[in-house]
Amino acid sequence: RRTRLVAELVSDVTAASTAPAAPHGPQQDVRAWVASVAELTQPDEIVWCDGSAEEKQRLIDQMLAAGTLVRLDEEKRPGSYLARSDPDDVARVESRTFICSEREEDAGPTNNWVAPAAMRAELEDVFAGSMRGRTMYVVPFSMGPVGGPISQVGIEITDSPYVVVSLHVMTRVSDEVLRLIDAGQEWVPALHSVGAPLADGATDVPWPCNETKYIVHFPESREIWSYGSGYGGNALLGKKCFALRIASAMARDDGWLAEHMLLIRITSPEQRQYHLAAAFPSACGKTNLAMLQPTIPGWKVETLGDDIVWMRPGPDGTLRAINPEAGFFGVAPGTGVDTNPTAVATFDRDTIFTNVALTDDGDVWWEGLTPEPPAHLIDWRGNDWTPDSGTPAAHPNSRFTVAAAQCPTIADTWEDPAGVPVDAIVFGGRRATNVPLVAQSFGWEHGVFMGATISSERTAAAEGALGELRRDPFAMLPFCGYNMADHWAHWLEVGAGVDESRRPRIFQVNWFRKGDDGRFLWPGFGENSRVVEWIVRQVEAGRGLRDDASVASPVGKLPAPGALDLDGIDVSDDDLAALFEVPTEPWLAEADLTEEFFAQFGDHTPAELRAQLDALRERLAGS
Ligand code: PEP
Ligand code: NA
Ligand code: MN
Repeated sequence: RRTRLVAELVSDVTAASTAPAAPHGPQQDVRAWVASVAELTQPDEIVWCDGSAEEKQRLIDQMLAAGTLVRLDEEKRPGSYLARSDPDDVARVESRTFICSEREEDAGPTNNWVAPAAMRAELEDVFAGSMRGRTMYVVPFSMGPVGGPISQVGIEITDSPYVVVSLHVMTRVSDEVLRLIDAGQEWVPALHSVGAPLADGATDVPWPCNETKYIVHFPESREIWSYGSGYGGNALLGKKCFALRIASAMARDDGWLAEHMLLIRITSPEQRQYHLAAAFPSACGKTNLAMLQPTIPGWKVETLGDDIVWMRPGPDGTLRAINPEAGFFGVAPGTGVDTNPTAVATFDRDTIFTNVALTDDGDVWWEGLTPEPPAHLIDWRGNDWTPDSGTPAAHPNSRFTVAAAQCPTIADTWEDPAGVPVDAIVFGGRRATNVPLVAQSFGWEHGVFMGATISSERTAAAEGALGELRRDPFAMLPFCGYNMADHWAHWLEVGAGVDESRRPRIFQVNWFRKGDDGRFLWPGFGENSRVVEWIVRQVEAGRGLRDDASVASPVGKLPAPGALDLDGIDVSDDDLAALFEVPTEPWLAEADLTEEFFAQFGDHTPAELRAQLDALRERLAGS
């Protein structure tokens, strides 16, 4: 344990500076940054973290004593803990998330923007003295295997032991990172405070936080400042803040991609291996697809990641991908033995659960874990609960935090620093109408158009109400660290730089189409393997390994009659036709909405995507 008094550290550093780092110029000295943060936030002590098991256990013991964690039953859920957050600190706060680029148009119309100088002044105000009475932890971490060619490193300063322990699971915490930085590697300074200074002698609450919250990104200087929340997406800064918002800005500048995607390896009955990356908005079944158990014989799916993918054109002409994370921070409700047995097996031990319910025998429960709720629980707020309570036992956004290595279907290559070659990219949304079960793009530009226009209906009740489409381009709406339309232009550029023969094929899927009677037309879950099979066969067709098994429609290539394996499932001919229907009038109306959507981004919308919209309208007019 390397604890040093603040005064000692500060006096070490003669030129402590809060000046922002330049993106490609010389970076701040780590120790000077730590000292300047300590001077600003005034913690009682500073602890440099090394990622060791001993360090994790010490912090867990401390949180057990403080009431932040509850130990679960050692037989039922070994090495596992329950955390209950403040009831007002349970989710990401998009209204308080800012992209503070120098120019407003670089943040784009879909991000909150404040001029960097004004935001820095506000932040210096709220962070002043914010760690009084607390310990400041300095956590060096790597996103991706330490030292890997696609990996990046950062240092999170936090006053939350829950955050440190979660970072141990979700990232690679290691003092090797400090050596890489000393050797000149670029790093991301990520500052976090729960914003709850403790007065002398005052007793702490189990989950300190502040009503005022700031989740701030400075894309040019690659800095993150987060204040007031202890919740995952707001506080584990390696995840959404770094691996998506800051990384997307880095990727734009350096020719790679940082995406909100899962990553799986598929082995065909012929033992050929393919990799698929897929983007879905939150709550569209991303974790389920990441852990898919195929129902069709001879096919195997293995997991590499469930939330974030970094992709870079490789020396061999392929697009190579890593999962930069080391764990899963998954939504618990709806995850059960029936819907995702792989996830259930993953969190059977050594897991931190946040805001789920506690059973009388010291285990966890949430809606959807089992078909029948237990007769009595302690709910996520710590109150007695019975099935008659009329409130959810677990918070709808309650989570499990668990090492990816514990996943029974983890691929043996998931930590390959060089990444895996991506063969297929899939975009999905939640659409009751119009969008077919699966469609292949006519090419890369059309695929980027598909990604840019992903949408979901606002509610199930809004079926057919086209005015209510919620756009979530690339499933990146809350996560793109720069102008969303520039992101589309960047995708066009990256694709053009990958060899045509190895360029991933792009597809769109929709598991959620409904019939006129409101019924889901597709069984989903494990049966989605049938769609994955067709996608893989189309990738093989693109490489001359088999014939193309598609028919053209105005919105993309659809499975040719008989090409989608429906053996052993009950999908009627009428339902199948309805799953792939592309109705002209509603699609023309949707094209008008796409035009309005593109107009929001002005000149930033790439001409190629406007041309794709024109081409879509022409195909619809001719259909
Ligand atoms: C998060 O909020 O930390 C998070 C992982 O978000 P989401 O599940 O919406 O991607
Ligand atoms: Na969330
Ligand atoms: Mn996510």
